[in-house]
Amino acid sequence: MKKESMKNILVTGGCGFIGSNFIRYLLTETDFDGRIINVDKLTYAGNLENLSGIEEAFPGRYYFSRTDICDLMEMSAIFEMYEIDTICHFAAESHVDRSITKPSDFIHANVVGTFCLLELARLHSNKLALFHHVSTDEVFGSLGKAGYFTENTPYNPSSPYSASKAAADHFVRSYAITYGIPVTISNCSNNYGPYQFPEKLIPLMILNAIENKPLPVYGEGLNVRDWLYVKDHCKAIWAIMKNGRRGETYNIGGGCEKTNIDVVRIICDFVDKILPGSDENPRKNLITFVKDRPGHDLRYAMDFTKLKMELGWTPSKTFETGIKETIDWYIENREWVKRVKSGEYMDWMKQQYENRQ
Ligand code: NAD
Ligand code: TYD
Repeated sequence: MKKESMKNILVTGGCGFIGSNFIRYLLTETDFDGRIINVDKLTYAGNLENLSGIEEAFPGRYYFSRTDICDLMEMSAIFEMYEIDTICHFAAESHVDRSITKPSDFIHANVVGTFCLLELARLHSNKLALFHHVSTDEVFGSLGKAGYFTENTPYNPSSPYSASKAAADHFVRSYAITYGIPVTISNCSNNYGPYQFPEKLIPLMILNAIENKPLPVYGEGLNVRDWLYVKDHCKAIWAIMKNGRRGETYNIGGGCEKTNIDVVRIICDFVDKILPGSDENPRKNLITFVKDRPGHDLRYAMDFTKLKMELGWTPSKTFETGIKETIDWYIENREWVKRVKSGEYMDWMKQQYENRQ
């Protein structure tokens, strides 16, 4: 199926970090001229403000429904009403630490949620151009000091989060094989950029550094992640949706491996430059080593040769530029920060700090 058939795209989890960046990108920077129907339950991580102005800027092309993807009746009505022909599935519980504290939420959103969407895809398969499933490199488990994950690396998830995403990936593949649903799957490395909820490493460290609060680094800070700027992820997803081979999986990565301690030091240096404190007390002094995360994967690194060779995608943003822009964004959007850091989020963070002392 070519992109001409993608007229009414159901985006799930479009009020979250990557989903909102994807919707903005699709509407403002691509040749897509159809409609987007954003279905989001608005959990603690979903925020309507992430897409403020979009409905007004694109009348008749953007719709929102506050719905749980597990609500089959409501989702069925949405499929009918908007004549959905394409699904881009982001909705998920996405934070590893939360999955350790409360795995059941992850089974609901990630496993049952994906299953429900697949059932809807099966029911509407005669109209369906594509089911694109957004997944993570964490399904592969941990690398040692060398090597890369390829599309053929066996699944070996370590956390309840990655196990739930692995289960979802398996269901998506099984529906392609058993029922002939046209699917593509992307497994991506760690993202950073605007609108990321400040429980993840990069926004948490940026905001704590700005506010001169402790910077909690797990263990010795030597775990490695492969960082990718969120818009580069969005570009990769759209390239796969348009021209990726149906039934295939594509790895997406940043080619940008860094230890956590290096990431935090880079953030400290940038924040010192933008908001100078005193030379005797640089932000690095705020780094606090805390109890490690249980089952903490040592290293992730993606081999994205397949995506590069087949679709010509490579990351365009360097870490230096991306992190600088991200820090600027968090400094300029203090009202957004204030609002997302209220309520349940503060209770959760307080509990986290207490557990790690
Ligand atoms: P996020 O937590 O910021 O957003 C998730 C969104 O899904 C939220 O808006 C939430 O309200 C919504 N949601 C959760 N459960 C729902 C349900 N049952 N019904 C409807 N909506 C629901 O997550 P993110 O970082 O934007 O990640 C999006 C996707 O990308 C996830 O599938 C995640 O596994 C994957 N991914 C994330 C990263 C990363 O670095 N953040 C990397 C690779 C893959
Ligand atoms: P995170 O942003 O939670 O993403 P993931 O666990 O999905 O990779 O964490 C990125 C890395 O940073 C991971 O190795 C855990 C570490 N980390 C800290 O050291 N301190 C923190 O406060 C957080 C949230 C993460």
